[in-house]
Amino acid sequence: MKKTTAAITAVGGYVPDFVLSNKVLETMVDTNDEWITTRTGIKERRILKKENAGTSFMAIKAAEDLIQKSGVDPSEIDFVLVATATPDLPVASTAAYVASEIGAVNAFAYDLQAACSSFLYGMSTAASYIESGRYKKVLVIGADKMSSIIDYTDRTTCIIFGDGAGAALFEPNEEGLGLQDEYLRSDGVGRQFLKIDAGGSILPASEETVKNKRHYVYQDGKSVFKFAVSNMADVSALIMERNNLTHEDVQWLVPHQANKRIIDATANRMGVAPEKVMINIDRYGNTTSATLPLLLFDYEKQLKKGDNLIFAAFGGGFTWGSIYLKWAYNSK
Ligand code: UT7
Repeated sequence: MKKTTAAITAVGGYVPDFVLSNKVLETMVDTNDEWITTRTGIKERRILKKENAGTSFMAIKAAEDLIQKSGVDPSEIDFVLVATATPDLPVASTAAYVASEIGAVNAFAYDLQAACSSFLYGMSTAASYIESGRYKKVLVIGADKMSSIIDYTDRTTCIIFGDGAGAALFEPNEEGLGLQDEYLRSDGVGRQFLKIDAGGSILPASEETVKNKRHYVYQDGKSVFKFAVSNMADVSALIMERNNLTHEDVQWLVPHQANKRIIDATANRMGVAPEKVMINIDRYGNTTSATLPLLLFDYEKQLKKGDNLIFAAFGGGFTWGSIYLKWAYNSK
């Protein structure tokens, strides 16, 4: 019997209209365009300014874009997974709300939180459900409103992050396309280097925690950078090696957009030429769970059926990994 694989059959995306440029950041904190550009590759990021709108607002827009383009009937979607580090509410699944709002009335839904690796892990979850034969249509949405957890007086974090959402539909494939292999990792040693201290079960919100700005993202950038560079490159090289792929076999590297220097190091290690590396960090910054699907959204028209894509991500926790996927369609 032929093995059923899990292929991406449609993508969608959404970024808010408001652009926060390096020039504007220069007026907010002690930084400059040259430093941000050379150290990170970021020129601007999008910020969701709409009142009372959370991560679900962007997730719904991305899903609606996918539904409209692909013509998929939302009532046929079996499962909606929202990969996010910034759920609408600390309790109550954002995915359940998104599923209802997009008309996925027959789906079950839940959130997945693995910091910047959330979408990568979500791809693995979606593929496992499809490969098992249990479900036929799985919608994975990566969405984050990072501006809701960033201190815009802290120059070490506010220059990096942005808001956005991307979506991908996974369906069974009998031609051997879709997810081929994965290598996912985590290491709790990293928790101290990238975190939000308060608002969880260790340190619930209080007057004190708000006053001391402990609900914002803290990052020891240098340490995270060190781990990210070596681990993202290692897993990407490993997944190529164990699938007997040379740089010529790889059409696209789809890397998490945290820092252009981390992306370059990963591509170098894989021996993949710069024109094969998907990049949009210059326009969106680090959108956490949304970086990978937003790349697919931006590059969809250039992808061809049968292309070999290597996904790679690294994030808080630490969490990281790589996925090898064969693209399943030519876009219209
Ligand atoms: O997506 C989740 C995973 N996250 C990551 O992968 C992020 C990994 N880390 C990074 O991308 C980088 O570490 C950063 C972009 C966050 C920082 O770049 P860096 O090259 O590691 O800079 P640094 O933290 O070592 O700081 C170098 C200098 C310092 O000044 P001194 O001590 O050398 O005088 C900082 O105070 O740059 C200073 N600095 C800034 N200067 C201008 C820090 N932030 C800024 C800023 N503008 N925004």
